[in-house]
Formats: sequence, C-alpha cells, structure tokens
Amino acid sequence: MLYRMRRLRVDETMRSLVRETVLNVKDLVYPIFVVEGNQVKKPVSAMPGVSNLSLDMYLRELEEIAELGIPAVLLFGVPDVKDEVGSGAYDPNGIVQRALREGKKRFPELLFIADVCLCEYTSHGHCGLVHEGMVLNDETLPLLAKSAVSYAEAGASIIAPSDMMDGRVGAIRKALDEQGFSHIAIMSYSAKYASAFYGPFREAAQSKPAFGDRKSYQMDYSNRREAIREAELDITEGADIIMVKPALAYLDVIREFAIRFDIPLAAYQVSGEYAMIKAAAQQGWIDEKAVALESVTAIKRAGAKIIITYFAKQVAAWLKSSG
Ligand code: PBG
Repeated sequence: MLYRMRRLRVDETMRSLVRETVLNVKDLVYPIFVVEGNQVKKPVSAMPGVSNLSLDMYLRELEEIAELGIPAVLLFGVPDVKDEVGSGAYDPNGIVQRALREGKKRFPELLFIADVCLCEYTSHGHCGLVHEGMVLNDETLPLLAKSAVSYAEAGASIIAPSDMMDGRVGAIRKALDEQGFSHIAIMSYSAKYASAFYGPFREAAQSKPAFGDRKSYQMDYSNRREAIREAELDITEGADIIMVKPALAYLDVIREFAIRFDIPLAAYQVSGEYAMIKAAAQQGWIDEKAVALESVTAIKRAGAKIIITYFAKQVAAWLKSSG
C-alpha cells in the first residue's frame, strides 16, 4: 500500500509530532461568580466544583488561577438586591466593581474580563429593561454602556457584552472612548444562542427570566447564516474579539467564524456542557478527564483561540502534569 495512515500513529511521540491542535493554558478563561458576604463558598448544585464566592474566597481562587498560569477570568456578579432597572450592574460599588478593584490590586498580571448584562441584576431576570412584557432595546443601551464604563474604571481589561441587544457594541465602544477608555477591548458574545444549555448558570446567577424566555434577543439555534450577520455587525461596531456560545453544539458556527473573520475568536463552553460531563462522570459512565480534554480540544480545533470554560482549572492542572 502506498498510503498507510497508521504510520504516523505508531506511538505517542510520533502522534505528538503530527498533532495539529495542542491546548495551551494561555488559551483558557475561567468564569467566576462573585456574591456579597464573607466566607461564602456556596456550591452550584448542577456544576460540581463551581461555587458562588464572596470576595475573600474569590481572592483565594484568583491565587490558585494565577498559580496555574491561567491568564484570564470572566466575572459575573450575583447581587443581594435586584431591581427593575438592574442598578447593581452599574453601581460603582457593585459586587463586580469591587471584585475588579480588589482582584486587579492583588493580581495585576491577571486579565479581568467583565461580563456586561443586566439579567443578573434585574428583578425580572431579563437582559434589558422591560416595558409591558417587552424587552426594550435602545433604552437598555445606555445602561449597558454605563456598566461597561464602571467596569473599566474598576480595572477590567476586557468588556464582554452578553445581552444581545442590537447596537450594544457600538454604544459601549463610544462610551468607553468618551470616558478615556479607548485602550479597553471589547469581546462580544456575537453569536449567543437562546440555549437550554445555560440552565445551571441561571441557578448560579439566579438569573432565570421571571416570565417568557430570551428568544426575542438571543439567537435561534436553527440559524448559522444569521450568526455571520451578527458577527459582521459587531466587528463593524468595534468588537476586538468575537465569541460563539455555547460551544460544543455550535462547532459549525465556530468554524465558519474562524474561516471568515480575521479577528480573535472565543468560544464559551457553557454551564450545561460542563454539567453533562460532570454528571456522566460521577455516574462512572464516562472518563471525565478524557471527555473534557477531547471537548475543549475540539473547540480549539474548530477554530476558537480563546476558550472560556469551567474546566479551565482542571485543564490547566492536567496540562501541567502531562508536561
Ligand atoms: C448573561 C449570561 C448567561 C450566560 C453567560 N452570560 C446566561 C443567559 O443568557 O441566560 C450563560 C453561561 C453559562 O451557561 O455558562 N446573559
């Protein structure tokens, strides 16, 4: 036989020589949920290993992350008090703002990414202002812009809008530039699908919509071409990094973006993806490490350079131990 594909699979050394995709700890972003209080480490039931952390515990977590060599964290705030207009999101003393200030002071080498969205802060759990059952778009934009500026003031290096309002990237870019933050990057959740894979996150962030769903702003999971338009608009409005979310069920979208857009690409392996692997592994039905590494590598192989994952700490440790 002239061609024998197995020649290059003969042993691990040979395989590693021809390996096309190799995970690097510098690809990883670890999401963290910060809450009010002291000594709080409240486990999220559907996400084993993930907890809501008060600031003192969060600082300890950052220490671990820095030690593992993970370059960046993505912060979500879970405030004690929520209201109709999501004030906690843009309160200069809000939970994320304090987490950013404290974190940046103690760990200046870490990159802090602030998720911008109202849903964790609104009493109705929607990502924008609500009027007569409708999620308002243009009225929400100034609040998102205000949140972004306050996160930048507090020490965020990257602003990550996840609300899916139209025009948000432009509104945020303009506000950042006007307030002296032209050096702060925007990572846009460009193709964020209305996905049932976010279930466990909503428990963690207590952000389940009180009525209806998010289908009037997040994307329909049946659509790929629409995602291209979303990304084009975000890039035109000034996004520095684009993102696809969730990841594993949307590898085709990741691939499409990687081929089309010469701009750094991120993918978010979301809470439900994590929960599924954890649950099956706990049952002894799959090998957690093997499946987690295979999934995260597949996301990179599809074309995402930046991978946001609740497995970040474990992956970093696994990469370290395999040398
Ligand atoms: C906020 C937001 C959500 C996630 C990230 N940012 C939830 C949602 O849109 O309901 C989900 C992340 C995850 O599931 O891990 N809008």
